[in-house]
Amino acid sequence: MSGHRKKIMDRIYAELFPEFEFKKFKGIEVVGDIAILKIPRELEPYRFRIGEEVLKHMPSIKTVLRQLSPTSGSHRVRGFEWLAGERKTVTFHKEHGCTFKVDLSKVYFSPRLFFERLRIAQLTKPGEVIVNMFAGVGCFSIIIAKLKPVSKVYSIDINPDAYKLMVENTKLNRVEGIVIPILGDSKSIAEEALIGSADRVLMPLPELACSYLPSAILCLKDSRGWIHYYDFVKASSNEDPVKKLSEKVSKLLDTLTPHWSIENSKVVRTIASRTYQVVLDIHIS
Ligand SMILES: C[S@@+](CC[C@H](N)C(=O)[O-])C[C@H]1O[C@@H](n2cnc3c(N)ncnc32)[C@H](O)[C@@H]1O
Repeated sequence: MSGHRKKIMDRIYAELFPEFEFKKFKGIEVVGDIAILKIPRELEPYRFRIGEEVLKHMPSIKTVLRQLSPTSGSHRVRGFEWLAGERKTVTFHKEHGCTFKVDLSKVYFSPRLFFERLRIAQLTKPGEVIVNMFAGVGCFSIIIAKLKPVSKVYSIDINPDAYKLMVENTKLNRVEGIVIPILGDSKSIAEEALIGSADRVLMPLPELACSYLPSAILCLKDSRGWIHYYDFVKASSNEDPVKKLSEKVSKLLDTLTPHWSIENSKVVRTIASRTYQVVLDIHIS
């Protein structure tokens, strides 16, 4: 959440609920012109009023939604309730010079991956062929194609709505012919059509990363290249989440390929108390 938005939300809550404890405030996320709020349970009866105040204080916001449930199911979609403004879930979100059409009720989208998408784009090299195994509406793939002269980004998603939006976003950002949207299960597509094709494979779906790693390795050209592996890790206060994941994936890699190294690793974001999203940049040589 930007500092500016946090200040506005603090002011709204302070004015509406002077007795409210701020540490319970759960935040605001902005996708295009839609604001998404997490409303603490004790303030539920006032949620529409809070929505109206957000509209009043943030002129760029046209719709306020409340998040009802976290991402779930194979399409990783969240549940929402309308609170204020236009009754819509479709918006256009801008990031790194690209525009993404998103329907929050049908597809996954998180503005919190802003820095990670840029980091991956910056790592790519001219002429590379990339496979994005979990492409969503195309964010990682389109940012890469816009920022770097890559050859192809095969971009797979199993959600037909994400696929349709990815096709639209590819046109909107003029990267047709470079970003190639593919509808289906990435394991089957990798093993049927993309074996030995890629210099780099992206795996931005923590829930399937472990079981789909063998297919990602099969995609690499001459059995060498880069894999960006994302996973969720629960770590207690005396555990290092990055070390914990590195140890788990190292054991798996030893069973799959002889020459590999984890060249870089870090926490991408905190998901919940002591639960982290971690990325490993794996080099297979
Ligand atoms: C966490 S989202 C990542 C989306 C995208 N990378 C982004 O940054 O916005 C994971 C995506 O994987 C897709 N997915 C789930 N299972 C899949 C599978 N077996 N094959 C291909 N895509 C899958 C979901 O539909 C979802 O869009």
